[in-house]
Amino acid sequence: MLSKKMQELMNNQIQAEFYSAQLYLAMSVYSESENFKGFAHWLKVQYQEETSHGMKFLEHIVERGGEVELKSIDAPPVKFGSMLKLFEEVLAHEKKVTAMINNLYEAALKEKDYASQIFLQWFISEQVEEEANAAEIVAQLKMIGEKSVGGLFQLDHALGHRKG
Ligand code: FEO
Repeated sequence: MLSKKMQELMNNQIQAEFYSAQLYLAMSVYSESENFKGFAHWLKVQYQEETSHGMKFLEHIVERGGEVELKSIDAPPVKFGSMLKLFEEVLAHEKKVTAMINNLYEAALKEKDYASQIFLQWFISEQVEEEANAAEIVAQLKMIGEKSVGGLFQLDHALGHRKG
């Protein structure tokens, strides 16, 4: 049985993951409107990943006999500036999510909730990957520079091949 504290934190995490999904979908739509179809594709795949993260938490709560509470999701912004600004925002957002996951893990340790500790380990590794992916794109965009249209479209093309 999931404790009330863990249940509350996990319900907050569902909300955060679904907000991440909305945010990345909004970023994808914006990128497409700026004619960056590859960035748009990458962000749409990310949107799908975030939805699956939210579902993992939802299923964990159900499996542990807890109560799922779906909370309202804030509307994400509509405009994001340059692709560099946009991916800096992705990285900053992922850092916030990492802090939330770490906080959840700490709570699971305090409560001796071993099942949640094992469950959360997947997310700890996932966050390392998510931050690394975003940081790599930020670094590439910085190398290209805002004015190199050729470089931008080359990266756009490469990101368009993301599978999962
Ligand atoms: Fe679900 Fe990007 O963290």
